[in-house]
Amino acid sequence: MEPLLEVRDLVTAFPAPAGPLRAVDGVSLEVRRGEAVALVGESGSGKSLTALSVLRLVAPPGRVVGGTVAFEGRDLLSLGEREMCAVRGARIAMVFQEPMTALNPVLTAGFQVAEAVLAHEGVSRKEARGRARDLLVSVNLPDPDRVLDAYPHELSGGQRQRVCIAMALACRPALLLADEPTTALDVTLQAQFLDLLDRLRREMGLAVLLITHDLGVVARFAERVYVMYCGRVVEQGPAAALLTDPKHPYTRGLLASVPRRGAKGRLQAIPGGVPRLAEVPPGCAFGPRCPRFTEACAAAVPPVLAVGEGREVRCILYRGGAP
Ligand SMILES: Nc1ncnc2c1ncn2[C@@H]1O[C@H](COP(=O)(O)OP(=O)(O)O)[C@@H](O)[C@H]1O
Ligand SMILES: [Mg+2]
Repeated sequence: MEPLLEVRDLVTAFPAPAGPLRAVDGVSLEVRRGEAVALVGESGSGKSLTALSVLRLVAPPGRVVGGTVAFEGRDLLSLGEREMCAVRGARIAMVFQEPMTALNPVLTAGFQVAEAVLAHEGVSRKEARGRARDLLVSVNLPDPDRVLDAYPHELSGGQRQRVCIAMALACRPALLLADEPTTALDVTLQAQFLDLLDRLRREMGLAVLLITHDLGVVARFAERVYVMYCGRVVEQGPAAALLTDPKHPYTRGLLASVPRRGAKGRLQAIPGGVPRLAEVPPGCAFGPRCPRFTEACAAAVPPVLAVGEGREVRCILYRGGAP
């Protein structure tokens, strides 16, 4: 079956005096119908820009300069702006990290969800309000009647996040792009939110591309994982295999820095930080932080290598198979 979303060799760049800087540098990924996929990496890896590029919402002067984005069999990068608007509203929904910014502070939650319903369905205002209430119930808001009439500042962070999801679901999308949706939530709310996404996947066949820097969230939620570093996918594969037997030294570093229950001693964080875009090193961008670095790593960007069932890694350690 063809994937719902298929991104190939996506490049998104910002102009700079010394030539364009590629914040997304040849990303390929796919999401199948109803699938839960995670895009993971430290802050500054290009995760958000990848999602924004898919939706063609990169703010100028940033620009998608290469690659293809196929969604439901159509090439999104060549659609007219009107058609793209329709896709954005109706087929792909997006929720962001800080729900406050996605809601209008002077309108009630109920009004905003009803507006989203009205934008996609030819129903009366009264029916739209009824649909809005149903949506609030479906996202597990315990007191939907109160929430309908509440202004965003009268709701908690978790409630606002749910209202955003309700708005996003008003159009019955096939794909939800969720960019760090749980980062602002405490652990309990985070778990509830992931349960909610699971249920929506089961009930609506909704596919979710979840962007996160939190490997706990990945383990809890994802069937497949893409690991990004400096604009490139450095490893991908089924979540269970990738999390128990990571191949790329970057993925290994990320996993080693996750606190484990009962673990003693200090966590091994990856030394150094994500380089600024203008300072991405040549060859493997992770080279300077990598415990397995050799000169060959800096010579060229490593090729994508197959490493077992549905798994790929961008690291020359695997040139001849397993190291
Ligand atoms: N408007 C912009 N101008 C220049 N660089 C940007 C802009 N937006 C993002 N970047 C850079 O692109 C890279 C990827 O950013 P982003 O996609 O937000 O990362 P992530 O979501 O993984 O934290 C970062 O190095 C960031 O500094
Ligand atoms: Mg981001």
